[in-house]
Amino acid sequence: MLRRLHHEQPESFAFTPENQAWAETQITKFPKDRQASAIIPLLWRAQEQEGWLSRAAIEHVAQMLDMAYMRALEVATFYFMFQLAPVGSVAHIQVCGTTSCMICGAEDLIAVCKDKIAKKPFETSEDGKLSWEEVECLGACANAPMAQIGKDYYEDLTAERFGEILDAITKGEVPTPGPQTGRYASEPAMGLTSLKDHEADRHPQNASVELAVSIGDTVKRIDGSEVKLEAPWHDFSKKDGTAQVDSRGTEKAGGRPVDDTGIDRREAPAEGTAHPKAAAPAKAAEAEQGVKPEQLEKPRGGEADDLTRIRGVGPKLAGLLNEMGFYHFDQIAGWSPEEVAWVDDHLEGFKGRVSRDDWVAQAKSLASGDKT
Ligand code: FES
Repeated sequence: MLRRLHHEQPESFAFTPENQAWAETQITKFPKDRQASAIIPLLWRAQEQEGWLSRAAIEHVAQMLDMAYMRALEVATFYFMFQLAPVGSVAHIQVCGTTSCMICGAEDLIAVCKDKIAKKPFETSEDGKLSWEEVECLGACANAPMAQIGKDYYEDLTAERFGEILDAITKGEVPTPGPQTGRYASEPAMGLTSLKDHEADRHPQNASVELAVSIGDTVKRIDGSEVKLEAPWHDFSKKDGTAQVDSRGTEKAGGRPVDDTGIDRREAPAEGTAHPKAAAPAKAAEAEQGVKPEQLEKPRGGEADDLTRIRGVGPKLAGLLNEMGFYHFDQIAGWSPEEVAWVDDHLEGFKGRVSRDDWVAQAKSLASGDKT
């Protein structure tokens, strides 16, 4: 498909102050001179704010990242997730038309779009509130046919139910996403035939729907005020932007995971609707794994072994090990399974590497003068 900028363009674009702050903070995730790596999240935020990407928005993002306009335009025109023409002011409807959905009635859903929104995809409805397009498989094939509306999936649709959903959205309502036939998740449509033990005590809605409802941003234009901006990797006291990513190249421990929308998708939902996936990471973080090995304050004899000789250990990981008080092959060679578990758990950004690459065996060999 030929993807071009829309023939009508706004004069200018500006992020809201909150989105601007969010965008500037995203840039600090990347090393100096590599700011261009932030292109997709910034373009995406511009689209979340406006609904689509205008030329002015693309150029604004390019300027922020010190990129040639052409490079930013290449990205925006390459990825189909970027809308290059104005979409409905309330929602843009994406109907899956791939095999499972097509067999189960996607064409009926598209007929509803043509009837209620506009005859052609990417045209807005008469009141300007909705637009639609057909998209490729969205990965919810077991609940075909389905459509993505804003950020959420509406599954097991019939033409009638889909029409009701569009009417509700036009009125400013946000119908509950997920399966629309009373099906819980993607179990057999006729009901569970096995693994029925927990049927009685499951939540009223599946975890994805529960989370979507608790966040409630299905069709919201994101202005940046949704959640407090958090950037645990960034030292805001340094104004030159050089304090960027921590030595592990990741968000530091203790920072809450923030998705590319800036929204903490694991934020605790409303009382009484605790999301099981939200609770799990916190619980895991509480439990201390294994036994801490003996650490050294500094390398013996003032010289550390070259830990990068261990396969799977690069300079960053070697530096991290040194920070933790591990400098020598014989230290690592002597780790018990419990100590391996402790180190594995404390290698922020590299968890599980010790056992994955069997550092103990490698270190034993290196300590005895062999090569790995
Ligand atoms: S075929 Fe429609 S979601 Fe996969």
